[in-house]
This record gives sequence, C-alpha cells and structure tokens, in this order.
Amino acid sequence: MNNLHQLLLNQITTLACSERSQLEILKESSELLKRTIFHYDWVGFYILDNQASNLILGPYTGKPTEHICIPVGKGVCGQVAQSKTLKVVQDVSKEGNYIACSVDVQSEIVVPIIKNGEFVAEIDIDSHSPSPFTLDDQEFLSAVCKILSELF
Ligand code: SME
Repeated sequence: MNNLHQLLLNQITTLACSERSQLEILKESSELLKRTIFHYDWVGFYILDNQASNLILGPYTGKPTEHICIPVGKGVCGQVAQSKTLKVVQDVSKEGNYIACSVDVQSEIVVPIIKNGEFVAEIDIDSHSPSPFTLDDQEFLSAVCKILSELF
C-alpha cells in the first residue's frame, strides 16, 4: 500500500472511532475516497436487508443512481453479496451479469464488508477509466472494509 492509502486508512480509522452515526461515517468515508483517488468516480455502500435477499443503497458520493434495491445474485453488487468475495470488473462491457448505471462507467470494483464471517454490506466503486484497479486498490479497499465492519 502506498502513503496515500496509509493516510486514508488512518483518517477512516479516526472517523470509525468517532461518536458519529454509522450512516454519517459511511457517507464521510465515501466522500473522502471519491475526492482523494482520481479513478474513483462513484463510491457508495450497499447494505444487506434483514431477510438477506436484497441490497439496499446506503450512503454514497457521486451521481444519483436509480438502483436503490438490488437482489442478491444480480449484477456485480449482487454477485459479491452471494460469493462474499471481492470482484473487479476492468471492462463492464464484458461482464454478463452487470447492472448499468451510467454510460460513463467503464469499470467497477465491489468489496464485501464481513462481520463475524457474515456478509453485511459492501463498498461499490465505479470508474470512468478503463482497467484502473490494481492489486493495491484491492488490498487498500479490503483494509477499509475491515475497519468499517466494526460499525455493523
Ligand atoms: N453496476 C452495479 C450496480 C450498482 S451501480 O454501479 C451504483 C452492479 O452491476 O451491480
């Protein structure tokens, strides 16, 4: 992980330990990630509902999306809820199980938030750049999700 990633992890840890509500912390984290990392154009959270059958859109930063409820298994977000493993799509035009949000989006990464072995939520990042996500992004975002899992 690079210095910027380390700095962001420190800031997110401070946020997560603050007195603010879960939703405020998630919103601030999404803002921080979007404004700091160039290739993160839409950053948001989807949270599993009580029946564990749908993902509900939580705090996000970026253009409004109509996808406020995504069934588990559907799209990249739904696949990650099912598999509980991170998924990178470097070219969304090549992904068969994909829910399009905006024509500007070229790539996407979704990282699960796991609490006590259970999938509880995920971070979803869309990019307008082609193939921008590196192993460093994967490692960094997994660390972000580990910190944020404490909020669930
Ligand atoms: N592209 C996602 C849908 C959510 S939006 O990117 C905000 C998917 O395929 O699940």
